[in-house]
Amino acid sequence: MCGIVGYIGNREATTILLEALKKLEYRGYDSSGVAVVGGGSDLRVVRSLGYISNLESRIKPTGATTGISHTRWATHGVPSEENAHPHMDGSSSIAVVHNGIIDNHLALKQELSGKGHTFLSQTDSEVVPHLIQEEYEDNGGDLLEAVRSAVGKLKGSYAIVVVHKDHPDMVVSARMRSPMVLGKGVNEGFVASDVTALLKYTNRFLYMEDGEIALLTRGDIHVETLEGETVDRELTSVDWAEEDAEKGGFDHFMIKEIFEQPQSLHQTLTGWRSDEEGLSRELLRARMMRVIACGTSYHAGLVGRCLFEKFTSLPTQVDMASEYRYANSTLDDSLVLLMTQSGETADTIAAAREARRRGMKTIAVTNVVGSTITRESETSLHLRSGPEIGVAASKTFTSQVMMMYLLSSHMGYQMGRISKDEHDAIQTNLRYVIRAVEGILNDVSRIKEQARWLSKARDAFYIGRYINFPTALEGALKMKEISYIHCEGYPAGELKHGPLALLTEETPIIALISDDHTYDKMLGNVGECSARSSPVLAIAPEGDREVKRYTDRVITYPRIDPLFSPIPISVILQLLAYYAAKERGCEIDKPRNLAKSVTVE
Ligand code: M6R
Repeated sequence: MCGIVGYIGNREATTILLEALKKLEYRGYDSSGVAVVGGGSDLRVVRSLGYISNLESRIKPTGATTGISHTRWATHGVPSEENAHPHMDGSSSIAVVHNGIIDNHLALKQELSGKGHTFLSQTDSEVVPHLIQEEYEDNGGDLLEAVRSAVGKLKGSYAIVVVHKDHPDMVVSARMRSPMVLGKGVNEGFVASDVTALLKYTNRFLYMEDGEIALLTRGDIHVETLEGETVDRELTSVDWAEEDAEKGGFDHFMIKEIFEQPQSLHQTLTGWRSDEEGLSRELLRARMMRVIACGTSYHAGLVGRCLFEKFTSLPTQVDMASEYRYANSTLDDSLVLLMTQSGETADTIAAAREARRRGMKTIAVTNVVGSTITRESETSLHLRSGPEIGVAASKTFTSQVMMMYLLSSHMGYQMGRISKDEHDAIQTNLRYVIRAVEGILNDVSRIKEQARWLSKARDAFYIGRYINFPTALEGALKMKEISYIHCEGYPAGELKHGPLALLTEETPIIALISDDHTYDKMLGNVGECSARSSPVLAIAPEGDREVKRYTDRVITYPRIDPLFSPIPISVILQLLAYYAAKERGCEIDKPRNLAKSVTVE
C-alpha cells in the first residue's frame, strides 16, 4: 500500500525524504514522487514510474528543508507518472500526498471542474489539492484553515500531507481512517504513514487519530481536532532500533524475521509480565471469549480457541474481522480479543468499534505500540516482536500464539480453573518451545531439501487436527502468499468429505503430526493419502518411528509437550514456504497484490 513521508527542519529535505521513503519500499508500490518548498525556489515536484532509484536519479539537492514524498500503489488510475503523487493544484502552489480512498471524488471533481479546475490525472487524490486551493482563497491564505475546510468535504479515508510554496515554514497533515504518525526531533518534525520510515531520525512519536489535523513547524508539532480543539497527547517512545528495520546480511526481511524468533518469543514471554500485572480482574467475569482478526492473526486466534477452552473452560468463538459485522446474536457479552500485529487493519478496527458499540469489553493484541487498535480497545497487550517488514507474517504469528498461551493460562489460573502448578508448567513449556525453535533454526538443510521438492508442485494440502489444524491453515497461507503455489489447509478428518477427490501423485500433502490424542487418527489420514498415491511430507516429533512406515519424507521437530507444538511446527512451515518461494524466484518480501497492512475495508 502507499507510503508517505514529510519533513521540516534544517537539513536537505530531498535526502531525508528519499532515504525515509526507501524504508517503506517493502509495502509495495508502482511509482513515487517528491515535492519540496523553500531553499530559494518555489514548489518543486518530481515524480517517476517504478523504483525509487528512478526518482532519485532525477533529483538534485535544492537546499530546501521542507517537503513531502510518496510511494503509490495504484487504486484509481493505472501506474504512471501523471498518476503518481504528489499532486498539485491548478496554480502549482500546493502539493499533496494522500493515502486512502476519497469516496466522493467524482462529485467533487465535477463541482471543481464547474469552477474552472482542470485535472491532469485519473486519481481520486488529485481533488484534494484543488479543494485546498479553493479553501485557501476563501480563508485568506491560511493554510491550516484551508486544509481543515477541505478535508471537511471529503468522504472516505485519508492520510494527507500538504505543503505550499508560500509557506516553507510549515507542513500540514490530516488523518481519517488511514494511519499517520508524527515524529519529533531537535528543531525538526517528521510525518509518515509508518513509524519504520522514521526510526533513523527519532524515537519520539505522536500517533494521529481520526479527525485530527497537525501543523508541523521547525520547533513544534501542534495537533487539533477538525473542530479546533487542541489535542494534548503525550509523545510515545518507541524502543525499535533502526537496524531492526534492515536486512542485516540476510537475503530477505522474511528470513531474517524467521531467524529472529527465539529472540522475539523471549521478548513476548518476558514482556508479558508487565502487561499481566495491569490486567483488570473484571476480565475474569467473562462468560465467553471471542477472538476477531484477519489472515494470519485469525489463525493465531484459532489456536487461542483451543487454549481458552482448555484452560478457562469458556466457550470461545473466532471470527474473521470482515465478517463480524454480520454476527447477529444479541445475547453475546463476550470478552473480545482484537488480534492484529500492525494494529492498523481496517476490518479489525471496524470490528473493534462494533464490539464496543455492542457493549463488550475489548482487548487489543498488537505489535505496534500506539497503533489505532490500541486506542479503539480498552486494554492492550503488546507482542514485543520488534518491527516486521516482510509482508508475510512470521515472528509476529508465533508471538501471537505465545500470547494465547499466556493470556489463557493467566485467566484460567485466576478463575480457579487450573492450579498454580499447571500454570507454572505452561510457562516452563513455553521456555522449552523457544529452545525447540532454536534447534530447528540450527539446521535447516532438511527443510531446504523438502522445499526444493515442494517448489515444483502446482497444488498442495496441509492437514492437521485439533490445535494443529490452525497451524495447517497458516502453513498453507504462508506457502500460497509467497510462492504462489495453490495450497489448502484442511482438518485432516475432512479430507474424506470431498478433497480426496483432488488427490493424485502430483498433489503433495503436508501432514502435521503431534504425539497427542490426535496421533493415531493422523497416521490413518497419512495412510489414506498415500493409498491415493499422493506424496506425503510429515512434520513429526523427533524419534517417531511409526510415521516412517507411511512415508520417507519426514521433517522432525524437537520433542516437547504436544500442546505446544504449533509454534515449532509453524517455524518449519515458514522455512518451507520461504525456501520454496526462493527456489521459484519469487519476490518474497513483496508478494504480488499484497500489502503489509490492509488499511481499507
Ligand atoms: O496486521 P494484521 O495482523 O491485522 O494483518 C492481518 C492480515 O492482513 C495478515 O495477517 C496477512 O494475512 C498477512 N499477509 C499474513 O502473512
